[in-house]
Amino acid sequence: MKIVVGITGGIAAYKAPELVRLLKKAGHEVRCAATEHALEFVTRVTLETVSGAPLYSDLFASGRTEHISLKDWGEMLVVAPATANIIGKVAGGIADDALSTLLLAFSGKPVIMAPAMNCEMWAHPAVQRNVETLKGWGICMVGPEEGELACGVNGMGRMAEPEQIADAICTMAAGRLAGQRWLVTAGPTYERIDSVRFIGNYSSGKMGFALAEALAEQGAEVELVTGPTYLNVSTYQRISLHRVESAREMYSAATEVFPRCNGAILSAAVADYRPAECADHKLKKNGNEGMHLDLVQNPDILATLGSMKTDKQTLVGFALETDNEETNAQRKLEKKNLDFVVLNSLRDKGAGFGVDTNKVTIIARDGSKTESPLLSKKEVARLIIETITP
Ligand code: PMT
Repeated sequence: MKIVVGITGGIAAYKAPELVRLLKKAGHEVRCAATEHALEFVTRVTLETVSGAPLYSDLFASGRTEHISLKDWGEMLVVAPATANIIGKVAGGIADDALSTLLLAFSGKPVIMAPAMNCEMWAHPAVQRNVETLKGWGICMVGPEEGELACGVNGMGRMAEPEQIADAICTMAAGRLAGQRWLVTAGPTYERIDSVRFIGNYSSGKMGFALAEALAEQGAEVELVTGPTYLNVSTYQRISLHRVESAREMYSAATEVFPRCNGAILSAAVADYRPAECADHKLKKNGNEGMHLDLVQNPDILATLGSMKTDKQTLVGFALETDNEETNAQRKLEKKNLDFVVLNSLRDKGAGFGVDTNKVTIIARDGSKTESPLLSKKEVARLIIETITP
């Protein structure tokens, strides 16, 4: 894997060359990016020698936009050590030097941080809030650990050892799901009434896109079939995006790719009904009279995949419920031949349509349940993947 190691200005920066050496030994290509303060603790020559590549540390040095080429080159970005300062900058969207600019530009790909700082700084509510914000965006934290700190006191704030950071990186790089292909459905469907109107719903696609990214993070190839949404995945190479509009188009795309997949997670909010006829012009108001739409049923994609499923495939459906939640979700699991159902209750605040957070209960075929607290959709996606692919 092509890994960018970012180094910031903390005493633990002296361990960064060892981390680079371990990553190179494990077969990864490494380039380093350091802040000005980091270079007070570790030299340019050392970092360039161990990585075998020029160091990126000055936004304007070459007159080129290095942060753009490095963000395209790198498949993963690791910041070790990550000071309170860099964590705060990313959380606040600040890009005022080479590394912070690269961090903001490095979207859609895995980022790992190994925090290191004094224990009082680590405990500060601002730092804790910033760490939670970054975790919510999907940034993975390794450490810190408890132990003797450079300032002489014992406490939480020591950077994890390079071996431990390298292990976390290599596990993520190898990916538990490498060699697997998964289907994910996302977003709403639009069912046309006439040339300007449709029946739709409030799904934004955020949950489905987060699931696709969480699967790709673990090394899986993903076929993401999405209804209309403004979201994109341009930066994640392992995700093939299929944009569709209606339930019938989603049905065709999903049933076509499913036989080649190890599993499928259907998080799309598919319209159960569509207008029996779609006018090819804009329908006009008819005096003061009301209007009747004849609706016909759409195909049930999940139930169809349930009937196609082999013993080797895992099928996961979502259930969006407003009452009798668990009973209804269990019913869907059995009726549609699912291995897991992810229950979303619209009664939970901060969960469901449009928002960046979700709260779910994952119910397995054997009845076991995994409940999540209210988390970012990225974290919920990771929990779902962990639960369904143990
Ligand atoms: O997109 P977001 O804004 O992030 O919101 C996420 C979400 C709320 C849409 C998502 O978390 C969610 O709950 N998705 C399921 C929504 C839904 O339509 O649930 P349902 O109970 O009506 O459908 C049950 C299951 O059958 C779902 O897996 C659905 O994808 C599937 N289905 C439904 C109808 C149909 N014709 N074909 C299907 O495959």
